[in-house]
Amino acid sequence: MKHMSETILVTGGAGFIGSNFVLSWMREGNGAVVNLDLLTYAGNAANLSPLDGDQRYTFVRGDICDAELVGWLLSKHQPGAIVHFAAESHVDRSIVSPGEFVRTNVQGTFTLLEQARAYWAGQSDADRAAFRFLHVSTDEVYGTLGPSDPAFSETTAYAPNSPYAASKAGSDHLARAYFHTFGLPVVTTNCSNNYGPYQFPEKLIPLMILNALEGKPLPVYGDGQNVRDWLYVEDHCAAIRKVLEAGKPGETYNIGGMSERANIDVVTAICDLVDEMRPRSGAEPRRKLITFVGDRPGHDRRYAMDASKIARELGWKPEEGFESGLRKTVRWYLEHGDWVDSVRTGAYREWIAKNYAERAAL
Ligand code: NAD
Ligand code: DAU
Repeated sequence: MKHMSETILVTGGAGFIGSNFVLSWMREGNGAVVNLDLLTYAGNAANLSPLDGDQRYTFVRGDICDAELVGWLLSKHQPGAIVHFAAESHVDRSIVSPGEFVRTNVQGTFTLLEQARAYWAGQSDADRAAFRFLHVSTDEVYGTLGPSDPAFSETTAYAPNSPYAASKAGSDHLARAYFHTFGLPVVTTNCSNNYGPYQFPEKLIPLMILNALEGKPLPVYGDGQNVRDWLYVEDHCAAIRKVLEAGKPGETYNIGGMSERANIDVVTAICDLVDEMRPRSGAEPRRKLITFVGDRPGHDRRYAMDASKIARELGWKPEEGFESGLRKTVRWYLEHGDWVDSVRTGAYREWIAKNYAERAAL
Protein backbone atom coordinates (compact mmCIF):
# COMPACT_ATOMS: atom_id res chain seq x y z
CA MET A 1 0.00 0.00 0.00
CA LYS A 2 1.07 3.59 -0.63
CA HIS A 3 1.07 4.97 2.92
CA MET A 4 0.60 3.22 6.23
CA SER A 5 -1.33 6.38 7.17
CA GLU A 6 -4.24 5.33 4.94
CA THR A 7 -7.42 3.68 6.21
CA ILE A 8 -7.40 -0.12 6.15
CA LEU A 9 -10.29 -2.56 6.33
CA VAL A 10 -9.50 -5.43 8.72
CA THR A 11 -11.70 -8.53 8.82
CA GLY A 12 -11.79 -10.69 11.96
CA GLY A 13 -10.11 -7.96 14.01
CA ALA A 14 -11.89 -9.05 17.21
CA GLY A 15 -10.25 -12.50 17.14
CA PHE A 16 -6.87 -13.53 18.53
CA ILE A 17 -4.42 -12.40 15.85
CA GLY A 18 -6.70 -9.70 14.43
CA SER A 19 -7.07 -7.87 17.74
CA ASN A 20 -3.32 -8.04 18.41
CA PHE A 21 -2.78 -6.68 14.90
CA VAL A 22 -5.24 -3.78 15.27
CA LEU A 23 -3.84 -2.81 18.68
CA SER A 24 -0.24 -2.82 17.42
CA TRP A 25 -1.21 -0.99 14.21
CA MET A 26 -2.76 1.80 16.27
CA ARG A 27 0.08 1.84 18.81
CA GLU A 28 2.50 2.46 15.97
CA GLY A 29 0.52 5.51 14.86
CA ASN A 30 -0.69 4.19 11.51
CA GLY A 31 -3.93 5.18 9.78
CA ALA A 32 -7.58 4.48 10.61
CA VAL A 33 -8.96 0.94 10.93
CA VAL A 34 -12.43 -0.29 10.05
CA ASN A 35 -12.85 -3.66 11.76
CA LEU A 36 -15.49 -5.96 10.22
CA ASP A 37 -16.16 -8.89 12.54
CA LEU A 38 -19.19 -11.11 13.03
CA LEU A 39 -18.32 -11.74 16.71
CA THR A 40 -18.66 -15.49 16.55
CA TYR A 41 -17.72 -17.40 19.72
CA ALA A 42 -14.05 -16.56 18.85
CA GLY A 43 -14.54 -12.80 18.52
CA ASN A 44 -14.56 -10.42 21.44
CA ALA A 45 -15.07 -6.69 20.82
CA ALA A 46 -13.73 -5.99 24.34
CA ASN A 47 -10.25 -7.00 23.13
CA LEU A 48 -10.22 -3.59 21.44
CA SER A 49 -11.39 -1.63 24.49
CA PRO A 50 -8.02 0.21 24.69
CA LEU A 51 -9.24 1.96 21.51
CA ASP A 52 -12.46 3.26 23.06
CA GLY A 53 -12.82 6.91 22.09
CA ASP A 54 -10.11 6.71 19.41
CA GLN A 55 -11.55 8.44 16.33
CA ARG A 56 -9.34 6.33 14.03
CA TYR A 57 -11.12 3.11 14.98
CA THR A 58 -14.52 1.93 13.70
CA PHE A 59 -16.07 -1.40 14.65
CA VAL A 60 -18.72 -2.96 12.40
CA ARG A 61 -20.45 -6.14 13.45
CA GLY A 62 -21.13 -8.05 10.24
CA ASP A 63 -20.46 -11.06 8.06
CA ILE A 64 -17.78 -11.25 5.37
CA CYS A 65 -20.29 -13.34 3.37
CA ASP A 66 -22.58 -10.28 3.17
CA ALA A 67 -21.61 -8.85 -0.23
CA GLU A 68 -23.80 -5.77 0.10
CA LEU A 69 -22.31 -4.81 3.46
CA VAL A 70 -18.73 -5.37 2.29
CA GLY A 71 -19.32 -3.33 -0.90
CA TRP A 72 -20.89 -0.51 1.10
CA LEU A 73 -18.01 -0.43 3.62
CA LEU A 74 -15.44 -0.25 0.84
CA SER A 75 -17.16 2.60 -0.93
CA LYS A 76 -17.81 4.50 2.31
CA HIS A 77 -14.33 4.20 3.87
CA GLN A 78 -12.15 4.02 0.71
CA PRO A 79 -9.44 1.85 2.29
CA GLY A 80 -5.96 1.53 0.79
CA ALA A 81 -5.81 -2.13 1.86
CA ILE A 82 -7.83 -5.05 3.17
CA VAL A 83 -6.17 -7.25 5.78
CA HIS A 84 -8.22 -10.44 5.87
CA PHE A 85 -8.05 -12.46 9.10
CA ALA A 86 -11.69 -13.53 9.50
CA ALA A 87 -12.03 -17.29 9.49
CA GLU A 88 -13.18 -20.33 11.36
CA SER A 89 -9.79 -21.31 12.78
CA HIS A 90 -10.00 -24.37 15.04
CA VAL A 91 -9.08 -27.74 13.51
CA ASP A 92 -11.07 -29.82 16.04
CA ARG A 93 -14.24 -27.82 15.31
CA SER A 94 -13.69 -28.37 11.57
CA ILE A 95 -13.84 -32.11 12.22
CA VAL A 96 -17.16 -31.74 14.06
CA SER A 97 -18.80 -29.16 11.75
CA PRO A 98 -16.91 -28.67 8.46
CA GLY A 99 -19.75 -26.78 6.74
CA GLU A 100 -19.11 -23.57 8.68
CA PHE A 101 -15.49 -23.67 7.54
CA VAL A 102 -16.43 -23.87 3.88
CA ARG A 103 -18.93 -21.05 4.30
CA THR A 104 -16.69 -18.58 6.13
CA ASN A 105 -13.26 -19.48 4.78
CA VAL A 106 -14.13 -20.20 1.15
CA GLN A 107 -17.40 -18.36 0.49
CA GLY A 108 -16.42 -15.46 2.76
CA THR A 109 -13.03 -14.98 1.09
CA PHE A 110 -14.67 -15.21 -2.34
CA THR A 111 -17.18 -12.51 -1.35
CA LEU A 112 -14.42 -10.21 -0.13
CA LEU A 113 -12.35 -10.76 -3.27
CA GLU A 114 -15.34 -10.03 -5.51
CA GLN A 115 -16.23 -6.84 -3.66
CA ALA A 116 -12.58 -5.79 -3.54
CA ARG A 117 -12.31 -6.31 -7.30
CA ALA A 118 -15.32 -4.10 -8.02
CA TYR A 119 -14.08 -1.38 -5.64
CA TRP A 120 -10.51 -1.53 -6.97
CA ALA A 121 -11.67 -1.31 -10.60
CA GLY A 122 -13.22 2.09 -9.84
CA GLN A 123 -10.02 3.60 -8.41
CA SER A 124 -7.48 5.87 -10.16
CA ASP A 125 -4.44 4.20 -11.77
CA ALA A 126 -2.22 5.29 -8.85
CA ASP A 127 -4.65 4.01 -6.20
CA ARG A 128 -5.10 0.73 -8.09
CA ALA A 129 -1.34 0.21 -8.12
CA ALA A 130 -1.03 1.00 -4.40
CA PHE A 131 -4.01 -1.08 -3.20
CA ARG A 132 -3.33 -4.39 -1.37
CA PHE A 133 -5.53 -7.34 -0.48
CA LEU A 134 -3.55 -9.16 2.21
CA HIS A 135 -4.86 -12.67 2.69
CA VAL A 136 -3.78 -14.20 6.02
CA SER A 137 -3.33 -17.94 5.79
CA THR A 138 -1.68 -20.89 7.47
CA ASP A 139 1.12 -23.44 7.17
CA GLU A 140 -1.51 -26.20 7.43
CA VAL A 141 -2.26 -25.90 3.70
CA TYR A 142 1.04 -27.71 3.03
CA GLY A 143 0.05 -30.86 4.93
CA THR A 144 2.41 -32.71 7.22
CA LEU A 145 6.17 -33.37 7.48
CA GLY A 146 8.25 -36.35 8.56
CA PRO A 147 10.88 -35.87 11.28
CA SER A 148 13.73 -35.03 8.90
CA ASP A 149 11.84 -33.44 5.98
CA PRO A 150 12.89 -29.91 5.04
CA ALA A 151 10.58 -27.14 6.27
CA PHE A 152 7.69 -25.95 4.04
CA SER A 153 8.71 -23.32 1.48
CA GLU A 154 6.49 -21.13 -0.72
CA THR A 155 6.84 -23.70 -3.52
CA THR A 156 5.83 -26.75 -1.45
CA ALA A 157 2.78 -28.40 -3.06
CA TYR A 158 -0.52 -27.92 -1.22
CA ALA A 159 -1.72 -31.06 0.61
CA PRO A 160 -4.28 -30.00 3.25
CA ASN A 161 -5.40 -32.78 5.60
CA SER A 162 -8.20 -31.33 7.76
CA PRO A 163 -11.43 -29.61 6.66
CA TYR A 164 -9.97 -26.42 8.20
CA ALA A 165 -6.75 -26.70 6.17
CA ALA A 166 -8.70 -27.60 3.01
CA SER A 167 -10.96 -24.56 3.40
CA LYS A 168 -7.94 -22.29 3.91
CA ALA A 169 -6.24 -23.87 0.88
CA GLY A 170 -9.40 -23.16 -1.15
CA SER A 171 -9.30 -19.52 -0.05
CA ASP A 172 -5.59 -19.28 -0.93
CA HIS A 173 -6.33 -20.60 -4.44
CA LEU A 174 -9.08 -18.02 -4.93
CA ALA A 175 -6.79 -15.23 -3.73
CA ARG A 176 -4.10 -16.38 -6.15
CA ALA A 177 -6.60 -16.57 -9.02
CA TYR A 178 -7.83 -13.02 -8.43
CA PHE A 179 -4.28 -11.76 -8.91
CA HIS A 180 -3.56 -13.85 -12.00
CA THR A 181 -6.92 -13.37 -13.72
CA PHE A 182 -7.97 -9.87 -12.70
CA GLY A 183 -4.70 -8.28 -11.56
CA LEU A 184 -6.08 -7.54 -8.08
CA PRO A 185 -2.94 -6.81 -5.98
CA VAL A 186 -3.20 -9.78 -3.64
CA VAL A 187 -0.44 -10.90 -1.28
CA THR A 188 -0.79 -14.05 0.80
CA THR A 189 0.98 -14.90 4.05
CA ASN A 190 1.17 -18.48 5.37
CA CYS A 191 2.07 -18.56 9.04
CA SER A 192 2.86 -21.22 11.63
CA ASN A 193 1.19 -21.62 15.08
CA ASN A 194 0.76 -18.35 16.96
CA TYR A 195 0.53 -17.91 20.73
CA GLY A 196 0.16 -14.93 23.03
CA PRO A 197 -2.52 -12.72 24.66
CA TYR A 198 -6.21 -12.96 23.64
CA GLN A 199 -6.01 -16.48 22.19
CA PHE A 200 -9.30 -18.28 22.72
CA PRO A 201 -8.81 -21.05 25.32
CA GLU A 202 -9.84 -23.87 22.99
CA LYS A 203 -6.29 -23.85 21.51
CA LEU A 204 -3.42 -25.83 23.04
CA ILE A 205 -1.45 -23.17 24.92
CA PRO A 206 -4.23 -21.17 26.64
CA LEU A 207 -6.24 -24.34 27.34
CA MET A 208 -3.27 -25.93 29.10
CA ILE A 209 -2.43 -22.76 31.07
CA LEU A 210 -5.98 -22.48 32.42
CA ASN A 211 -6.40 -26.19 33.13
CA ALA A 212 -3.04 -26.25 34.92
CA LEU A 213 -4.04 -23.21 36.97
CA GLU A 214 -7.33 -24.86 37.93
CA GLY A 215 -5.81 -28.28 38.66
CA LYS A 216 -7.75 -29.97 35.82
CA PRO A 217 -6.43 -32.79 33.58
CA LEU A 218 -4.20 -31.67 30.70
CA PRO A 219 -5.46 -33.60 27.65
CA VAL A 220 -2.55 -34.34 25.29
CA TYR A 221 -3.64 -35.94 22.01
CA GLY A 222 -2.01 -39.24 20.98
CA ASP A 223 1.61 -39.65 22.04
CA GLY A 224 2.28 -35.92 22.43
CA GLN A 225 5.09 -36.04 19.87
CA ASN A 226 3.35 -33.91 17.21
CA VAL A 227 5.51 -30.91 16.44
CA ARG A 228 4.43 -27.32 15.81
CA ASP A 229 6.55 -24.26 14.92
CA TRP A 230 5.54 -21.60 17.47
CA LEU A 231 5.55 -17.85 16.76
CA TYR A 232 4.72 -15.10 19.25
CA VAL A 233 1.69 -13.21 17.92
CA GLU A 234 3.41 -9.79 17.96
CA ASP A 235 6.02 -11.16 15.57
CA HIS A 236 3.26 -12.29 13.20
CA CYS A 237 1.72 -8.81 13.34
CA ALA A 238 5.10 -7.23 12.52
CA ALA A 239 5.50 -9.58 9.54
CA ILE A 240 2.06 -8.58 8.23
CA ARG A 241 2.98 -4.90 8.46
CA LYS A 242 6.16 -5.59 6.48
CA VAL A 243 4.23 -7.44 3.79
CA LEU A 244 1.68 -4.61 3.57
CA GLU A 245 4.48 -2.09 3.23
CA ALA A 246 6.77 -3.88 0.83
CA GLY A 247 5.31 -7.25 -0.24
CA LYS A 248 5.01 -7.83 -3.97
CA PRO A 249 1.52 -8.39 -5.44
CA GLY A 250 0.97 -12.00 -6.50
CA GLU A 251 3.59 -13.30 -4.06
CA THR A 252 3.19 -15.49 -1.02
CA TYR A 253 5.38 -15.23 2.09
CA ASN A 254 5.91 -18.00 4.63
CA ILE A 255 6.17 -16.82 8.24
CA GLY A 256 7.48 -19.02 11.05
CA GLY A 257 9.00 -18.91 14.50
CA MET A 258 12.00 -21.22 14.00
CA SER A 259 10.77 -22.75 17.26
CA GLU A 260 9.74 -26.32 16.64
CA ARG A 261 8.53 -28.03 19.79
CA ALA A 262 6.79 -31.35 20.49
CA ASN A 263 3.40 -30.80 22.18
CA ILE A 264 4.44 -32.71 25.29
CA ASP A 265 7.40 -30.37 25.76
CA VAL A 266 5.17 -27.31 25.42
CA VAL A 267 2.74 -28.71 28.01
CA THR A 268 5.46 -29.62 30.53
CA ALA A 269 6.99 -26.14 30.13
CA ILE A 270 3.57 -24.61 30.88
CA CYS A 271 3.20 -26.82 33.98
CA ASP A 272 6.56 -25.66 35.29
CA LEU A 273 5.77 -21.98 34.67
CA VAL A 274 2.38 -22.22 36.40
CA ASP A 275 4.04 -24.05 39.35
CA GLU A 276 6.56 -21.23 39.58
CA MET A 277 4.03 -18.37 39.28
CA ARG A 278 1.20 -19.96 41.32
CA PRO A 279 2.89 -22.38 43.74
CA ARG A 280 0.60 -24.77 45.62
CA SER A 281 2.15 -25.86 48.88
CA GLY A 282 2.00 -29.60 49.43
CA ALA A 283 0.39 -30.31 46.05
CA GLU A 284 1.97 -32.48 43.36
CA PRO A 285 3.76 -30.78 40.45
CA ARG A 286 1.29 -29.88 37.70
CA ARG A 287 3.06 -32.23 35.27
CA LYS A 288 1.11 -34.96 37.07
CA LEU A 289 -2.07 -33.55 35.49
CA ILE A 290 -0.93 -34.57 31.99
CA THR A 291 -3.35 -37.12 30.54
CA PHE A 292 -2.83 -38.72 27.15
CA VAL A 293 -6.17 -38.93 25.31
CA GLY A 294 -7.48 -40.25 21.99
CA ASP A 295 -5.84 -38.58 19.00
CA ARG A 296 -7.27 -35.95 16.63
CA PRO A 297 -8.40 -37.75 13.43
CA GLY A 298 -5.93 -37.06 10.61
CA HIS A 299 -3.59 -35.30 13.07
CA ASP A 300 -0.68 -33.71 11.17
CA ARG A 301 2.59 -34.93 12.68
CA ARG A 302 4.90 -32.00 12.12
CA TYR A 303 4.85 -28.43 10.75
CA ALA A 304 7.94 -26.32 10.12
CA MET A 305 8.23 -23.14 8.10
CA ASP A 306 11.13 -21.96 5.98
CA ALA A 307 10.80 -18.19 6.43
CA SER A 308 13.95 -17.30 4.51
CA LYS A 309 12.09 -15.51 1.69
CA ILE A 310 10.48 -12.89 3.95
CA ALA A 311 13.80 -12.49 5.80
CA ARG A 312 15.74 -12.00 2.58
CA GLU A 313 13.26 -9.85 0.66
CA LEU A 314 11.55 -7.85 3.42
CA GLY A 315 14.02 -8.02 6.31
CA TRP A 316 11.61 -9.67 8.76
CA LYS A 317 12.62 -12.17 11.43
CA PRO A 318 11.02 -13.14 14.74
CA GLU A 319 12.17 -11.11 17.75
CA GLU A 320 10.67 -13.16 20.59
CA GLY A 321 12.21 -16.46 21.72
CA PHE A 322 9.82 -19.29 22.59
CA GLU A 323 10.80 -19.57 26.26
CA SER A 324 10.46 -15.82 26.94
CA GLY A 325 7.26 -15.58 24.84
CA LEU A 326 5.70 -18.51 26.70
CA ARG A 327 6.59 -16.96 30.06
CA LYS A 328 4.91 -13.66 29.03
CA THR A 329 1.87 -15.56 27.77
CA VAL A 330 1.43 -17.61 30.95
CA ARG A 331 1.72 -14.42 33.00
CA TRP A 332 -0.86 -12.65 30.78
CA TYR A 333 -3.45 -15.41 31.31
CA LEU A 334 -2.81 -15.51 35.05
CA GLU A 335 -3.30 -11.74 35.26
CA HIS A 336 -6.39 -11.54 33.03
CA GLY A 337 -8.92 -13.68 34.86
CA ASP A 338 -11.71 -11.24 33.90
CA TRP A 339 -10.99 -11.69 30.20
CA VAL A 340 -10.91 -15.46 30.66
CA ASP A 341 -14.26 -15.42 32.50
CA SER A 342 -15.82 -13.25 29.80
CA VAL A 343 -14.94 -15.67 26.97
CA ARG A 344 -15.72 -18.92 28.78
CA THR A 345 -19.45 -18.75 28.15
CA GLY A 346 -21.98 -21.58 28.18
CA ALA A 347 -21.22 -22.30 24.50
CA TYR A 348 -17.52 -22.60 25.35
CA ARG A 349 -18.24 -25.06 28.15
CA GLU A 350 -20.44 -27.14 25.82
CA TRP A 351 -17.64 -27.28 23.25
CA ILE A 352 -15.07 -28.42 25.82
CA ALA A 353 -17.43 -31.08 27.14
CA LYS A 354 -18.17 -32.35 23.62
CA ASN A 355 -14.57 -32.35 22.35
CA TYR A 356 -13.08 -34.14 25.32
CA ALA A 357 -15.92 -36.45 26.39
CA GLU A 358 -15.38 -38.72 23.42
CA ARG A 359 -11.59 -38.91 23.79
CA ALA A 360 -10.93 -41.90 26.00
CA ALA A 361 -7.83 -41.64 28.19
CA LEU A 362 -4.99 -43.71 26.66
P1 NAD B 1 -9.81 -16.57 15.69
O1 NAD B 1 -10.68 -17.76 15.57
O2 NAD B 1 -9.25 -16.21 17.02
O3 NAD B 1 -10.60 -15.26 15.17
C1 NAD B 1 -11.38 -15.28 14.02
C2 NAD B 1 -12.18 -13.99 14.00
O4 NAD B 1 -12.96 -13.99 12.79
C3 NAD B 1 -13.17 -13.86 15.16
O5 NAD B 1 -13.12 -12.54 15.70
C4 NAD B 1 -14.52 -14.12 14.52
O6 NAD B 1 -15.59 -13.45 15.16
C5 NAD B 1 -14.30 -13.60 13.11
N1 NAD B 1 -15.20 -14.20 12.11
C6 NAD B 1 -15.48 -15.53 11.95
N2 NAD B 1 -16.36 -15.69 10.95
C7 NAD B 1 -16.64 -14.44 10.45
C8 NAD B 1 -17.45 -13.97 9.41
N3 NAD B 1 -18.20 -14.80 8.67
N4 NAD B 1 -17.50 -12.64 9.16
C9 NAD B 1 -16.76 -11.78 9.92
N5 NAD B 1 -15.96 -12.19 10.93
C10 NAD B 1 -15.90 -13.51 11.19
O7 NAD B 1 -8.65 -16.76 14.62
P2 NAD B 1 -7.10 -16.40 14.71
O8 NAD B 1 -6.41 -17.49 15.40
O9 NAD B 1 -6.97 -15.01 15.15
O10 NAD B 1 -6.72 -16.50 13.15
C11 NAD B 1 -6.87 -15.37 12.30
C12 NAD B 1 -6.45 -15.78 10.89
O11 NAD B 1 -5.10 -16.21 10.90
C13 NAD B 1 -7.26 -16.93 10.31
O12 NAD B 1 -7.48 -16.67 8.95
C14 NAD B 1 -6.36 -18.14 10.50
O13 NAD B 1 -6.61 -19.10 9.51
C15 NAD B 1 -5.00 -17.52 10.35
N6 NAD B 1 -3.90 -18.18 11.05
C16 NAD B 1 -4.01 -18.46 12.40
C17 NAD B 1 -2.92 -19.02 13.08
C18 NAD B 1 -2.98 -19.33 14.54
O14 NAD B 1 -2.07 -19.98 15.07
N7 NAD B 1 -4.00 -18.91 15.28
C19 NAD B 1 -1.75 -19.33 12.38
C20 NAD B 1 -1.68 -19.04 11.00
C21 NAD B 1 -2.77 -18.45 10.36
O1 DAU C 1 -0.31 -24.08 12.16
C1 DAU C 1 -1.13 -22.95 12.14
C2 DAU C 1 -2.46 -23.31 12.76
O2 DAU C 1 -2.23 -23.44 14.16
C3 DAU C 1 -3.55 -22.30 12.50
O3 DAU C 1 -3.80 -22.22 11.12
C4 DAU C 1 -4.84 -22.68 13.26
O4 DAU C 1 -5.81 -21.69 13.09
C5 DAU C 1 -4.48 -22.82 14.73
O5 DAU C 1 -5.62 -23.24 15.45
C6 DAU C 1 -3.35 -23.81 14.93
O6 DAU C 1 -3.76 -25.16 14.59
P1 DAU C 1 -3.33 -26.42 15.47
O7 DAU C 1 -4.27 -27.52 15.23
O8 DAU C 1 -1.87 -26.70 15.30
O9 DAU C 1 -3.52 -25.76 16.95
P2 DAU C 1 -4.14 -26.34 18.31
O10 DAU C 1 -3.81 -25.35 19.36
O11 DAU C 1 -5.54 -26.78 18.16
O12 DAU C 1 -3.25 -27.64 18.56
C7 DAU C 1 -1.84 -27.58 18.66
C8 DAU C 1 -1.32 -29.00 18.84
O13 DAU C 1 -1.74 -29.47 20.14
C9 DAU C 1 -1.88 -30.00 17.85
O14 DAU C 1 -0.87 -30.94 17.54
C10 DAU C 1 -3.03 -30.67 18.61
C11 DAU C 1 -2.54 -30.66 20.04
N1 DAU C 1 -3.59 -30.56 21.08
C12 DAU C 1 -4.52 -29.55 20.97
C13 DAU C 1 -5.51 -29.43 21.93
C14 DAU C 1 -6.57 -28.34 21.79
C15 DAU C 1 -3.60 -31.42 22.17
O15 DAU C 1 -2.72 -32.31 22.27
N2 DAU C 1 -4.58 -31.29 23.11
C16 DAU C 1 -5.56 -30.34 23.03
O16 DAU C 1 -6.43 -30.29 23.92
